[in-house]
Amino acid sequence: MSPPDTSPEAPSPEDPGGVSAPKDAPADTGVSTSKGTSTSKDAPAGKGVSTEKDGAPKEGPAADLPHGSAPGIRFEKVVKRFGDNVVLRELDFTVDPGERVTLIGPSGSGKTTILRLLMTLETLNEGVIWIGDETLWHMERGGKRVPANQKHLHEMRKQVGMVFQQFNLFPNMNVLRNLTEGPVRVLGVSKDEAVERAKGLLDMVGLADKINAHPTQLSGGQQQRVAIARALAMQPRVLLLDEVTSALDPELVVGVQDLLRDIARQSDLTLLCVTHEMAFAKDISDRVLMFDQGQIVEAGHPDQIFGEPAEQRTRDFLQAVLAS
Ligand SMILES: Nc1ncnc2c1ncn2[C@@H]1O[C@H](COP(=O)(O)OP(=O)(O)OP(=O)(O)O)[C@@H](O)[C@H]1O
Ligand SMILES: [Mg+2]
Repeated sequence: MSPPDTSPEAPSPEDPGGVSAPKDAPADTGVSTSKGTSTSKDAPAGKGVSTEKDGAPKEGPAADLPHGSAPGIRFEKVVKRFGDNVVLRELDFTVDPGERVTLIGPSGSGKTTILRLLMTLETLNEGVIWIGDETLWHMERGGKRVPANQKHLHEMRKQVGMVFQQFNLFPNMNVLRNLTEGPVRVLGVSKDEAVERAKGLLDMVGLADKINAHPTQLSGGQQQRVAIARALAMQPRVLLLDEVTSALDPELVVGVQDLLRDIARQSDLTLLCVTHEMAFAKDISDRVLMFDQGQIVEAGHPDQIFGEPAEQRTRDFLQAVLAS
């Protein structure tokens, strides 16, 4: 049985990007509780992808997708513990700017924890996480690296968006407000601009006609499309995907995967994806990281990892997944 999760769940209406800082700042980083309030209106522009109502991609102008200078990610000797359970053990890995990387590995190995650390939904115990050339959990003061304050965390986490397995839409808001709440309240975008952008994104995910619907009136696949649009409405430069199709009925999976592949190909987002769908991993990734017990076992091009895995642990894992 897992110990209780005391970290905040994302997202919430007060924190529409799903970007709350944990209330339980780590003792060893001593994160301060002062409030950061700065806003950003400069969303990167770019051409988007568009989809038909059924989710099939089509060419043409559509929503703005993030373009230009996406930052890379670097984990340096990152340690994450839950009580006595050491989930990440001096974990080192890098995702290059604009690179699309998929994490695979057995259940409980720490994949979601990696994403939640990047979303600042979990605190790290040791080590350093970099987004671009800035540290996520630390900042520079007087030439020294010190624990980040709330303002620093607020600025850093604006760069990162996440799509969750269970969609996590705001149940009491219609689709439009699900997409505009974050940009208006967190980024300081004007209401008109947020609505305009939301319409473009809904068009892109094939749900323009659901703009006034509430989440309960949508299918799982439609909810996940809205969740993807909501994440993109925050104009992230890093997008995290955690098992985004595993809660969907099988016939809805392909449409959502096609949409994500399209978004990945037509934006410059840095993408870190966790999936048990090996075909999707192969399709969407520049590189695959095989992960087990808090460490990277093997990393390589999808053709190599899936075709000629070097490590026995990878072979065993793939065999088990493919047999299931
Ligand atoms: N909030 C938490 N409190 C305590 N333990 C936790 C918490 N979150 C995760 N864990 C533990 O950390 C370990 C890694 O969990 P994590 O969710 O990162 O695994 P995962 O690789 O994503 O697994 P899955 O493939 O099943 O989603 C597990 O042992 C889990 O029980
Ligand atoms: Mg997980």
